[in-house]
Amino acid sequence: MFDKRLRQKLALQKEKGLYRNPPVVDDGDGRTVTVDGRTLVNFASNDYLGLGRCETLRKKASDAFSRYGTSSSSSRLVSGNASVIREAEKAYADYFGYEDAIFFPSGYQANLAILSTLFGPEETLLFDKHVHASTVKGMQLGTAPFKGFRHNSMGHLEKRLKSASGHPVVVTESLFSMDGDTPRLAELAELKKSHGFLTVVDEAHAYGALGTGGRGIAREVADVALGTFGKAMGLFGAFVLMPSLYREYLFNFASPLIYTTALPEAHAVTALAVLSEVERGDGRRERLSSLSRKLTRLLTDRGFTVCGEAHILAVQIGSEERAHDLVTKLFDQGYFAFTARFPTVPMGQAIIRLSLTANHTEKDLEDFSDALFRLSR
Ligand SMILES: Cc1ncc(COP(=O)(O)O)c(C=O)c1O
Repeated sequence: MFDKRLRQKLALQKEKGLYRNPPVVDDGDGRTVTVDGRTLVNFASNDYLGLGRCETLRKKASDAFSRYGTSSSSSRLVSGNASVIREAEKAYADYFGYEDAIFFPSGYQANLAILSTLFGPEETLLFDKHVHASTVKGMQLGTAPFKGFRHNSMGHLEKRLKSASGHPVVVTESLFSMDGDTPRLAELAELKKSHGFLTVVDEAHAYGALGTGGRGIAREVADVALGTFGKAMGLFGAFVLMPSLYREYLFNFASPLIYTTALPEAHAVTALAVLSEVERGDGRRERLSSLSRKLTRLLTDRGFTVCGEAHILAVQIGSEERAHDLVTKLFDQGYFAFTARFPTVPMGQAIIRLSLTANHTEKDLEDFSDALFRLSR
């Protein structure tokens, strides 16, 4: 009976064109991936600066694992609260301009922890409707009431602010993971001034890649910010930046932090090396930005509607089946890209999500836009 229900639901996903069955990737060098012995140009990686495969970090990480071992073997709340992790957290807080920081095993867990723990029935969470699934899950797990506002609509947010009961907390992202756009931060800052709310900003796709020294773009408005190591920082895990009081509170009450094994010390040592790479990453950031502008231009010149203000571009396709068909054909032509379909984006608004890395070549972009143009006619 139970198996039958699972099979029925999977069959329904297939019927709706929503079934997920990602290809198995054998290898890659940051710019490309190898699947079934074929090398494809990768437009689906979040390794924006190309640090994930860079020689310096590989060496730092392997030395660190060699020196510190492979596991912390315990939660931070038991014996996993290593001094080197603390040192790295302080370095991250300093670099990004916050009072304090906590490392988490993943951004998903970090969002669960922040949103389900810090806020309660006294607050009302007002969230941009396009925030990441982990943020939504975090709000669902918590006790604070939550209400969405239209994507990037400061007007709609203001309306929500006026009718909010309880102390409002605005929850948004600085560079949206699927749309690739940014909120109007100056307007958000104005609203913050007039309404006095707290702001939680997920900077997962901005840290490392955007802002002065890769410090992201939302410091002016964010009280709490989330960064993931698994994107431009080329590692894994996540960090949350915040006032010391919030850190103390999370250490005492955040179940996703208390009941999980800490990242190993070797991670913290590597994270310090990542920070140095980010600090001297202007060349990589400039290249990423110039490639992003070029791909946007190439695609719009060929008649595509493209959203995205930086290194994440969302090519608007619409139908789930058509988007799926296009990426399958792109795959056959040597390109690895993926569609974002319902429930990641609203039904009937499927996109092809392209992400760039500083390692792409100009020719990769020219050939890709030609291929997409040919296939979509
Ligand atoms: C905006 C955003 N926040 C959080 C996460 C989760 O981070 P992690 O991959 O470290 O779990 C992701 C994606 O992975 C994301 O896109």
